[in-house]
Amino acid sequence: MKKIILTLLCLIAMINTGLVMANSGGYPTSPANVNVDDMDSLKRGAKVFSEYCLSCHSAKYVRFNRVATDLGMTESETMSDLNNLGVKFGSTMTAVMTKEYAKESFGAAPPDLSLVARSRGVDWLYTYLTGFYADSSRTTGHNNVIFKDVGMPNIFWQQEGVKKAIYEEHEGEKHVVGVEVVEKGTMAPEEFDTMIRDLVAFLAYIGEPHQSYRKSLGVYVLIFLFIFFGVAYAMKKDYWKDVH
Ligand code: HEC
Repeated sequence: MKKIILTLLCLIAMINTGLVMANSGGYPTSPANVNVDDMDSLKRGAKVFSEYCLSCHSAKYVRFNRVATDLGMTESETMSDLNNLGVKFGSTMTAVMTKEYAKESFGAAPPDLSLVARSRGVDWLYTYLTGFYADSSRTTGHNNVIFKDVGMPNIFWQQEGVKKAIYEEHEGEKHVVGVEVVEKGTMAPEEFDTMIRDLVAFLAYIGEPHQSYRKSLGVYVLIFLFIFFGVAYAMKKDYWKDVH
């Protein structure tokens, strides 16, 4: 019996590590450190998302009016800041480019990003968005540390600057182990970093719009249970005092 349990535990551990490795391709992710309760960060992230990502990607489960309510934005602010296509306030976030056109241009269709923070995780997204480096063998001129031979062009090369990969040879194969900036961008590194964290925070929010509510509800539930435990314990003491 012990052996069976031990084998099962080993199997679960192996599957888990396998999944993590498959997700990051072996490259270590960096912590995104995002705060989905920070409304200013989410608002900035929403703006970056609509400015830089909605041209190719959609977020088909996300409606503009929902974002406005959750982030405390007015209708006119939302329409001018986020809605590039000028669609209705109640519409979902659709991409400017059609999937077919994008697939022809980039070799792969840009996936819908509504749930990407849940499928990939915020750390993966942060590492991905800061992980583009110059690679002349690619048609886009760039590759990515965590998504080898990615079809997506490096959207932020002007802001971030040009980065080169640092390689290490392992069993006769060259592996990327890091990146370094070789040409400064228009943004200071900290400024760029904040922009990417805001963007990842927004992606985390759209992946689960209820998460702030869920977390605060959880706290109230715990407080209730704590008080209830006190009451129940006092009652138990009272009921049993004649028995002892
Ligand atoms: C010019 C078009 C284009 C723009 C603009 C663009 N992307 Fe992409 N993106 C792509 C394509 C194409 C892929 C698919 C890459 C592949 O499969 O090789 C992709 C893939 C991705 C992926 C990987 C998804 C997955 O799970 O496999 C993420 C995450 C992503 N993009 C995020 C973004 C974000 C965030 C922005 C805005 C800053 C953005 N993209 C802007 C074209 C674009």
